[in-house]
Amino acid sequence: MRPGATGRGFVYKCPMHVGELLDVVFRWAHLIAGIMWVGNSMLFNWLDRNLERAATDDPLSQGRIHMVHSGAFYEVEKKLLAPGQMPANLHWFKYQNLTTWLTGISLLIVVYYFNGAAFLVDPSVRDLAPSVAISISVGALLVGWLLYDGLWQTLGSRPQLATAISIAGIFAAAWGFTLVFSGRAAYIETGVLMGTIMTGNVWMVIVPSQRELVAATIAGRPQDKTLSLRAKERSIHNNYMTFPLLFIMISTHFPSASSNPLNWLVLIVVSVGGSGVRHFMNVRYAGKVWLGPAFAMAAVAVAGLMVVTRLSAPAIAEHKGEVTFARAQEIILKRCVPCHSEVPRDAQFSAPPSGVVFDSPERIKIMADRIKERAFTTGTMPFVNRTQITDAERAELARWVDDGAKIP
Ligand code: HEC
Repeated sequence: MRPGATGRGFVYKCPMHVGELLDVVFRWAHLIAGIMWVGNSMLFNWLDRNLERAATDDPLSQGRIHMVHSGAFYEVEKKLLAPGQMPANLHWFKYQNLTTWLTGISLLIVVYYFNGAAFLVDPSVRDLAPSVAISISVGALLVGWLLYDGLWQTLGSRPQLATAISIAGIFAAAWGFTLVFSGRAAYIETGVLMGTIMTGNVWMVIVPSQRELVAATIAGRPQDKTLSLRAKERSIHNNYMTFPLLFIMISTHFPSASSNPLNWLVLIVVSVGGSGVRHFMNVRYAGKVWLGPAFAMAAVAVAGLMVVTRLSAPAIAEHKGEVTFARAQEIILKRCVPCHSEVPRDAQFSAPPSGVVFDSPERIKIMADRIKERAFTTGTMPFVNRTQITDAERAELARWVDDGAKIP
């Protein structure tokens, strides 16, 4: 029976840990805002590419489109407005982005900075003091935006060069993060850096350009073209970062990618594949061949996940000879149960991580395959090897699983 349950209904034990509560609140809001932001941006992208220009002869018109959705027709026209035509109600789409970023930063703080930065620092990567690790993380976001923005302000006239430097810069940052942070934190830090650049693009470049467009329209003067072109450019950058960023958001579920010795390479290959898929979805509406190339780019991403992670899986010598359940349980009690128990002893976890408990032979047996995968094949458990399991013990657990995971 679970602690706290009496068999006659429930007793009120301890409420959800504050950190966990904040985690779920911010994560939920982050997901909702993110769906709204990315969803909007994809819809506008789609609209832009499907406008029918010939349908109108208004010189200010950029095209029209008809759609059917939720029980009626929508008729949308993209156009510039003549002076004095500014409507009383103009809808902007900027707070979805801001909410996504703010909840994302809050999550970064709650999950990676709180708790003595336990998820940020991995002593086997680099034994940083929490304050140092947090400073590096915050500093990297600030410096990352300044470098990117400065680069495009100065080299904007040579977009190919600036693009090459930006891509190299992001990949170098991802690699650098894997040298100082835990694998999953390195992934998330890369994602937050991309999200921060995207948010900077929206608020420092795209929104000001739109404000200028509104002001110019009201005043009846032509809009400053450079502002508009720069906004378009930054909007394209955001478009290409979306798919890699979404992968990073779900990457904590895939420790064999993020905790892999070549985790930075996995991230680079997946990002190239992800942006590649986005690219061919973009060119689709220009009437170009897209489905085949998009699948090819998806295959690149999958190769990053499958080939690279397996190539570099740590090779631990196999254990020869029999391993009894008693021996396997002894290892698990010492190396895993401090966290994976109904009442974890590890101060950081008030509840068993991922709900996985090894308190009884049956519970151990159910998880046998995952135990081998995490402790032996990928070597991603114990968490930051806090309980200092040895390679010999990892091999013993694998042998017990391979021999049928027998329990008495
Ligand atoms: C210091 C705490 C800690 C210790 C010790 C620990 N784990 Fe975990 N475990 C975690 C955390 C945190 C998660 C959730 C994050 C993740 O999956 O990487 C987790 C998740 C898991 C999962 C569920 C996710 C999946 O991949 O199926 C399994 C299985 C697991 N651990 C196995 C083990 C084994 C086996 C050991 C001992 C060799 C062990 N853990 C030791 C903290 C710990």
